[in-house]
Amino acid sequence: MTSRTITLANRGGATYSVDARRPLLDTLREQGVDLPYGCKYGGCITCAARLTDGQIDQRRQVALNNRQIANGYIILCVARPLTDCTLEIGVDSHGKLYRNPFADPLEPHELKADIATPKEA
Ligand code: FES
Repeated sequence: MTSRTITLANRGGATYSVDARRPLLDTLREQGVDLPYGCKYGGCITCAARLTDGQIDQRRQVALNNRQIANGYIILCVARPLTDCTLEIGVDSHGKLYRNPFADPLEPHELKADIATPKEA
């Protein structure tokens, strides 16, 4: 098993050793971290957290748009750690991450990854 160390910056810097092949939601919850979730397939945004250091693989997520990804948001139910990581959990709720498309339209390159068009140089 490849292990990664996950630090929760806004939980007193608590650290957890997790299996790199499994989603962070599962490996952290199994160690007693209280994390909400809904769909567990990367579609509902309930389990969003913010990555402040390290790299993760979240290719299976479909909830986040490219602006949110650029701002460091990750989807814990599908995210697997590629390196040791530092996270902030529980900082933004579903209510804040939901975006009113009329009030705050996205640029074409900020849309969800499967429909976004590259930013013009
Ligand atoms: S639980 Fe729905 S996106 Fe993670």
